[in-house]
Amino acid sequence: MNDKKFYITTPIYYPSGKLHIGHAYCTVATDAMARYKRLSGYDVMFLTGTDEHGQKIEGKAKEAGVTPQQFVDDIVAAPGGVLDLWKLMNISYDRFIRTTDDYHVAAIQKVFKQMYDNGDIYKGAYKGKYCKDCEAFWTETQLVDGKCPDCGREVHDAQEEAYFFRASKYAGQVRDLLLNTDFLEPRSRVNEMVNNFIDCEGGLQDLCVSRTSFTWGVPVDFDPGHVVYVWLDALFNYMTALGYQNGQYHDVEAFWPADVHFVGKEIVRFHSIYWPAFLMSLGLPLPKKVYGHGWLLLDGGKMSKSKGNVVDPYLLSERYGVDALRFFLLRSFPFGSDGNFSNELLIQTINVDLANDLGNLVSRTTAMAEKYFGGTLPEGAGATEAERAAAAVAVAGHEAAEGALHGEGCQFDGELIGLAAGLRNRYEAQMEKFQFQNALEEIFKVIQRANKYIDENAPWALAKDMEANAHRLAHVLYNLLETVRVCTVLLTPFMPESCERIFTQIGADQSARTWDGAARWGALPGSASVTKGENLFPRIDMAKELAELERIQEEARKAALPAIEIEPQLEEKVDFDTFCKSDFRAVKVKDCQNVKKSDKLLKFTLDDGTGADRQILSGIAKWYKPEDLIGKTLVAIVNLPPRKMMGQESQGMLISAVHTEKGEECLHLLMVDDAIPAGAKLC
Ligand code: ME8
Repeated sequence: MNDKKFYITTPIYYPSGKLHIGHAYCTVATDAMARYKRLSGYDVMFLTGTDEHGQKIEGKAKEAGVTPQQFVDDIVAAPGGVLDLWKLMNISYDRFIRTTDDYHVAAIQKVFKQMYDNGDIYKGAYKGKYCKDCEAFWTETQLVDGKCPDCGREVHDAQEEAYFFRASKYAGQVRDLLLNTDFLEPRSRVNEMVNNFIDCEGGLQDLCVSRTSFTWGVPVDFDPGHVVYVWLDALFNYMTALGYQNGQYHDVEAFWPADVHFVGKEIVRFHSIYWPAFLMSLGLPLPKKVYGHGWLLLDGGKMSKSKGNVVDPYLLSERYGVDALRFFLLRSFPFGSDGNFSNELLIQTINVDLANDLGNLVSRTTAMAEKYFGGTLPEGAGATEAERAAAAVAVAGHEAAEGALHGEGCQFDGELIGLAAGLRNRYEAQMEKFQFQNALEEIFKVIQRANKYIDENAPWALAKDMEANAHRLAHVLYNLLETVRVCTVLLTPFMPESCERIFTQIGADQSARTWDGAARWGALPGSASVTKGENLFPRIDMAKELAELERIQEEARKAALPAIEIEPQLEEKVDFDTFCKSDFRAVKVKDCQNVKKSDKLLKFTLDDGTGADRQILSGIAKWYKPEDLIGKTLVAIVNLPPRKMMGQESQGMLISAVHTEKGEECLHLLMVDDAIPAGAKLC
């Protein structure tokens, strides 16, 4: 039995629409953390899921003309849904909870009843503001410019009989938890919580925990008509998914309290104030930590589904590969703060870090091992005893190793080996603080050092005299392979599939891929068989790719537009006599030509039944070729005053039907039966 346990969660997502890259950000971070913990010997429980109740979902289902259950099933479990996305993104969750799962619903009813029985839930009446999007109650004073302080959207008056949770009773305890422990991180979020919600005017308010104005929620079983407030329902997922108050699972003892809940900054309030207060009410242990990460911003604002397809993780994974996307998310933004997402930054990160630094190191090293030694280094190429010993010292700090290795007289080896051998410790220190960006920075310092080591040792020059230099050349290549191996072990939580491929290329067996192996210089046998594989991270042509993404985005924008739009009918009435003054006639096209210097106008010569030709100019060149119209019978209004267009006279107007399709203006000339003679009056 492994007593090193680690329980980590993502927020459970509202399946109110397709998930975007912002949701993927938190899930990828949680996945990297879970994989890192597994790598370092922990028995991990990684929970994610979906938060499926509430007024917002009920409303969306109604709009879509389906039941709420059908609506959420479609977003969660249908092809292209949440489960598919996590599969695509290689998310190694151990458990997936849906708050509509029977075991969870029954457990929430028990939790609610228990809090009611112990006096922490009481009946009252709610009067205030409600934000449907955030499913959050607000008082007038908490609003910002009259809008929801979390999402900036409109709030609505809410007034109904409701149950309340006595949050006020736990204000002191929660305050103490926030101020005097490391429960909430980053630390910068603590003051905001305490000042705005606990030490504010009126103190921490009791929380409304039931609703009666809609039905899509967990029913309060002892008071029909009430459903449990979606946040109480949702927060307890972290415990019900372990088996709390249900027989579905039996993992509470092993995994509760959670080691960390990763949550976005706007839901820190629920996780750091109400969640501990609920648990205090039930006498349950509190999670060890809540970590509030920042947002990925798009053009300075929070992402939203309406902002186009390029923030679609499906599309980005398909174009650049899942690992490149996972890597980018954690390499480019400090986890605790907001970061600006842009396609440019994504492509640049792939080109610089993955193609240039890592990709080049692996491909140059494996190519040289193949070219100079047929893929297997000669005997004696591996780590020397002195190097192994010095590297072991480097696990504590690389300066000592450098000193020991300089004694060997191998130029630059000490620096590289010292840096690589000490990497695991530096990486671990950052990962333990959830500083993914810094952990990756440590790895890339070593990768960059290794690329420099290639240039310093110029293996191609050594290869010119193999008789004299074969041993040194082999050792240089071995040091590079070892460096790649150590970095790859530590990159595995971020890019699991690519790392597998690198391990295969450098010939690292299972024992060389372990956490222990990452701190053991020489774990790769000197005789490992190396194969240069396909290019791991192809370089992307920035300008071409940005143009292509723009085109895709434009297409997606168009696809999201309504299929057909027609102009609303005019309200203003026209009297019958006025209408009768308009003289509509059937006309036959005798000739039709483009008007010189105009890409819009066609010039028609028409037979209007009078015996004289009538000339009409019409701005329809975008839709018709002149030669296709000759001989057609059209409809024209013939008693409009003549007017000049591009210096030519137009005597009337041809009648067309117009509408908009996917944002494009569409036009059809009104063509009538050719049996109708020219000049026939339309009435
Ligand atoms: O809040 N950047 O669900 P949700 C970073 N059901 N993170 C983002 C983001 C962005 N642009 N957009 C969204 C809920 N997120 C609740 C959780 S937990 C008991 C209940 C993050 O689908 C957001 O910050 O609206 C949040 O942590 C998570 O996605 C889920 O958001």
